[in-house]
Amino acid sequence: MHKVACWTADQTHLSCHFAIRHQVFVEEQRVMVFTDVDAWDRHSQTHHVLAASGNHMAGTVRLYELDDHGTWKGDRLAVLPAYRTSIVGARLVRYAVATAAAAGGKIMHATVQVPNTRFFERLGWERDGPVAAHYGLPHQPMAIDLPGSESAQSQIPAQPELHLPVSVPALSPLLTHV
Ligand SMILES: CC(C)(COP(=O)(O)OP(=O)(O)OC[C@H]1O[C@@H](n2cnc3c(N)ncnc32)[C@H](O)[C@@H]1OP(=O)(O)O)[C@@H](O)C(=O)NCCC(=O)NCCS
Repeated sequence: MHKVACWTADQTHLSCHFAIRHQVFVEEQRVMVFTDVDAWDRHSQTHHVLAASGNHMAGTVRLYELDDHGTWKGDRLAVLPAYRTSIVGARLVRYAVATAAAAGGKIMHATVQVPNTRFFERLGWERDGPVAAHYGLPHQPMAIDLPGSESAQSQIPAQPELHLPVSVPALSPLLTHV
């Protein structure tokens, strides 16, 4: 199994982050029409996270703080089909939790597609309200209490274990850059 590395993308890799999201949410799942980019992508404090499996770009997650009381939201968890069931998704969720905790977060919320509920429960998340439609699909609100910031910090790799250049997914002609 390839080594999986997660990191918060800078300008160099931001287009890869958006390309993976677009491929999964717009082209594969069609949960969003035309683009999945929204106002949170323009927010300066939003973390755009990438995962690589070996030296291939494999997945994304996005996270941001909702208020000044330590409430964080995670969304846009996407793993390219070729890299699924190889622990990339779990690593991305753990990275998001550790990153929000290290920033002083207290709780993280996510609105999860119902078939992924068990996947999140195995990672320590709990159901947080009734299933409701989101982008026209049933979603389960979920939440996790974040660990103390010191222990969280130690879970975030100081440097991604990557051997650049990593191969990047082809950019869709439909992709809208922010
Ligand atoms: C949901 C998603 C992010 C999961 O990513 P992933 O990389 O496949 O996740 P993991 O490999 O960490 O784990 C997925 C499952 O495969 C299992 N798995 C992991 N490695 C495995 C392996 N080597 N062999 C068999 N099963 C394995 C895990 O136990 C897990 O099972 P569970 O769902 O019963 O808990 C991915 O399927 C995806 O991008 N789907 C489309 C977009 C989407 O639904 N996004 C989430 C919106 S809420």
